Amino acid sequence: MSEQPADGSTGDIPFGLLWGIKRSFVAYVRRMPDGQGSIHDGAVPLGEDTILFPVADSPAGEPTGSAPTGEQTGSVPADVQAGSEPADEGSGSAPTERTWRFRGDVRFRGHGGMLFVRVAAPLVTVRGDEAELSIEDPYARPDGARVPLVTLRLAPGPAPEGAQVWLGSDVRLTEAGAVLFNDVYQPGEPFEQLSVVLPAGGA
Ligand code: HEM
Repeated sequence: MSEQPADGSTGDIPFGLLWGIKRSFVAYVRRMPDGQGSIHDGAVPLGEDTILFPVADSPAGEPTGSAPTGEQTGSVPADVQAGSEPADEGSGSAPTERTWRFRGDVRFRGHGGMLFVRVAAPLVTVRGDEAELSIEDPYARPDGARVPLVTLRLAPGPAPEGAQVWLGSDVRLTEAGAVLFNDVYQPGEPFEQLSVVLPAGGA
């Protein structure tokens, strides 16, 4: 366990992914006599219901999440300024993909060890105004694949100076995500809305 300050943040702006995952699930774990939640790897609770997953340092030392696929050189291209429409809307050519990478590791345990849910290293893959949030292999196996957890719609939101804000709505559980919750939720189950706060223009 390595609690650290939210070093993805500078000044007063909490750069990163702000997300409550699924409030009713968190409440369910809290109600359990042996329910536990823990937060690691730089994630920070903000208030009762929200977790800040700070922007991950990219290997190239860029200030924001980078594209691991190498399709882009930065996660905040010039055409993605706060207040602008997401690029690549409409038909014709396939939308360019960009990715925002965050760190942090949140774990829920309960029912004598039968319940274990880990939401770690979220990565948001953006295609036009739609996005998918995937997480690291929930069982942290060295060769484990990432799991798509939720899909969402993404729109620019009001942002303080120096930042761009993206609001994720219509956040819905994927099929693979449903398995992580013991199939208690169906695919399409609504999860909490989220926000992504990044430095404006990648600066
Ligand atoms: C000993 C095994 C388990 C028992 C006895 C159990 C029991 C229950 C009960 C009684 C509820 C509904 C009541 C409530 O909301 O408090 C519930 C809801 C739920 N359980 Fe379990 N459960 C078990 C294992 C699991 C496991 C392994 C998972 C995997 C993550 C899981 C995920 C859920 C979810 C997601 C809900 C719905 C929470 C919500 O959004 O309201 N449960 N469970």
